[in-house]
Amino acid sequence: MERVLSGMQPSGYLHIGNLMGALHNWVRLQEEYECFYFVADWHALTTNYTNPSVIRDYTEDLLLNFLAAGLDPEKCTIFVQSKVPEHAELHILLSMITPLGWLERVPTYKEKKEEIRNKDLGTYGFLGYPVLQSADILLYRARYVPVGIDQVPHLEITREIARRFAFLYKDDALIEPEPLLTEFPKVTGVDGRKMSKSYDNAVYLNDPPEVVEKKILTMVTDTQRMRRTDPGDPERSPVFQLHKVFSSKDEIEEVAEGCRKAAIGCIDCKKILLKNLFRVLEPIWEKRREISGRPGLVEGIVASGVQKATAVARETMAMVKETLGMY
Ligand code: TRP
Repeated sequence: MERVLSGMQPSGYLHIGNLMGALHNWVRLQEEYECFYFVADWHALTTNYTNPSVIRDYTEDLLLNFLAAGLDPEKCTIFVQSKVPEHAELHILLSMITPLGWLERVPTYKEKKEEIRNKDLGTYGFLGYPVLQSADILLYRARYVPVGIDQVPHLEITREIARRFAFLYKDDALIEPEPLLTEFPKVTGVDGRKMSKSYDNAVYLNDPPEVVEKKILTMVTDTQRMRRTDPGDPERSPVFQLHKVFSSKDEIEEVAEGCRKAAIGCIDCKKILLKNLFRVLEPIWEKRREISGRPGLVEGIVASGVQKATAVARETMAMVKETLGMY
């Protein structure tokens, strides 16, 4: 089986955008590949270093949701980055051969540094983010890395670092990975922008049902449809965008038609969405409750994941250190 690796940063609670985008895809891939999935807690520290104590809470939330959403520890390896210090060890070796220019040219680097005004991201760690990510990937000699399109520049750096290692040391211990780009549904937030924790417009997997209900019922719709009897334009409503992700073809058609003809009101439309959203969330809530009722379960799964990950990581490090002729 070919190897797949991917990670998620614990920089917030997991929301339904992450679920429909990355996590469902991970669940599918575990059937066909040898998958390694991890929580990138050191990466979260690059942007959250002034407030590190929240990272642990987010890490626990991610792990719980990985399992609740269907990652099966019998089929894939689940672990936490900082529990496998070989990530840091490979990172430092790769940092020696990575030209600064490559890092400064990463589009997300400049963008984020400018965009996030309330934090000083002029740090060594933040610039080196893609080198750490490269270490994450190359350490497992993974063939495929399922990621969103925004991560492609990081994958490109990873490939360049692997090639440079091979060129400098005439050694192919580090395998050039390929991004596995899947068409993810784009999940709109409750305010109509892209769903993101930084916009405060997300529906979280750990939101209680009444909070989910309130978030949906108070969403803006087609602002130009003033009265219930006015015909609306579904495409102008973020509620309709969510229908596209969570509702059946027939229902999408039905609410669109109902909106255009003023046959249904916005509340009716939201109630249909809620029914479909709950159909996705309820089994996850159920599984979370079940897991939470078994203390030590998550810790045990992570401990055995760390063990499996460490075994592969040590193999790679042995080859790399041999190649460099380290003492
Ligand atoms: N940078 C990724 C993100 O923000 C998270 C990540 C860290 C990652 N290390 C990784 C993803 C290795 C894939 C492989 O989504």
